[in-house]
Amino acid sequence: MGTVTMEKLVSLCKRRGFVYQSSEIYGGLSGAWDYGPLGVELKNRVRDFWWKEMTQLHDNIVGLDAAIMMHPKVWEASGHVANFTDPMVDCKKCNSRFRADHIDLEAACPVCGNKGTFTEPREFNLMFSTNLGPVKDDSSIVYLRPETAQGIFVNFKNVLQTSRVKIPFGIAQVGKAFRNEVTTKNFIFRTLEFEQMEMQFFVRPGEDESWFEYWKNSRIAYYDRLGIRKDKLRFHQHGPDELAHYAKDAFDIEFEFPMGWQELEGIHSRTDFDLGRHQEFAGKDMQYLDPADNTRYLPYVIETSAGLTRSVLMVLSDAYEEQELSEGDTRVVMHFHPSVAPVMVAVFPLVKKDGIADLAKEIEQGLREDFTTFYDQSGAIGRRYRRMDEIGTPFCITVDYQSKEDQSVTLRFRDSMEQVRVPITELGERIRTEIRTYERV
Ligand code: GAP
Repeated sequence: MGTVTMEKLVSLCKRRGFVYQSSEIYGGLSGAWDYGPLGVELKNRVRDFWWKEMTQLHDNIVGLDAAIMMHPKVWEASGHVANFTDPMVDCKKCNSRFRADHIDLEAACPVCGNKGTFTEPREFNLMFSTNLGPVKDDSSIVYLRPETAQGIFVNFKNVLQTSRVKIPFGIAQVGKAFRNEVTTKNFIFRTLEFEQMEMQFFVRPGEDESWFEYWKNSRIAYYDRLGIRKDKLRFHQHGPDELAHYAKDAFDIEFEFPMGWQELEGIHSRTDFDLGRHQEFAGKDMQYLDPADNTRYLPYVIETSAGLTRSVLMVLSDAYEEQELSEGDTRVVMHFHPSVAPVMVAVFPLVKKDGIADLAKEIEQGLREDFTTFYDQSGAIGRRYRRMDEIGTPFCITVDYQSKEDQSVTLRFRDSMEQVRVPITELGERIRTEIRTYERV
């Protein structure tokens, strides 16, 4: 059946409460989106999946949550004030603005169709700024962070002195970042405000190349565990003219979004660039005293930098499927990994009477402690399954007359639509096992 398009995703997200346009009642704000009841659950779970992978499953990575606004010198030291720019052109006829590297400057304006109307490309700094306190002048400027990474670098010594980490070790952080993007399009792919999941891994100089390989392999394996189809992911190595100002080497993990292959995550070899610059600009010693041989050095850094909100778009795109079940009978199904599905278990009474609904409610309440549940007693059972398929609920439980007699229920699996009979007392354990052993078909 039909392939996934951005229009279909935007429509499903709006219809089912995943993502809404920001300030929609005022006509919307371009490049900003709000996460609805199901969207916030999905986003939080993708974040938690990453956090668990990085911190709980590694014994040498610790967490951090730094402030969004930082001392303005941070951004001078990091190079963002001087270098964090995109080339921009305006159409002199219709005033539309474009990234100069995203359009053909010899061709007609994509909005008004006029030729030869573009201004000369100008460098445009992507950082949003505001003023601290009542006086609006250059001395009161602060920036909204364009990456979370700098919060990690400036806290390197704090973490070292207050936790028992030794090199090699990492610091992980999830949080908002802001960029005044020249063009925002493709739904939540590129937005003004977004969330990043970043990890800086500090290593001994000379060991950076093997750790770079380690993190490339580890990050690809992570997407497999998240249930993302392997053939939708690939690496792209940055050429010399693509490398960011801080990077010695960089690979993007790209995903095949509905609009084509695009960057999902960056794995960057940042050398000692950032720690060295902070040492210089702040005048503080950022070196590490290695207890292994009593040498002092500035560690090298391997960074893994994934967009959380962009990962949500990946998860939505990868999960979407339209299936024709039989002549004229179709369903839209979202194949979310059960660990990130906004609703994990739906419970339905087959009928509302004869104590069936009471038993179903009781089962649903018993499962709440461990799973996100949803109770639904309205409409035909087939329609209730379809509604759950469309929001990606992996398990549906139906309570019927037999349930009252033998304390068993029907457990239905979203992907295969297979149904099995399970004793009520074994439901929790069965669902936990299914989540642990889930594989995308
Ligand atoms: N600290 C390194 C860094 O920020 P980046 O390649 O500029 O590197 C990392 O960004 C990731 O952040 C990207 O791979 C993408 O997933 C996400 N990202 C960047 N800009 C974004 C935007 N405007 N909207 C949504 N996600 C964005």
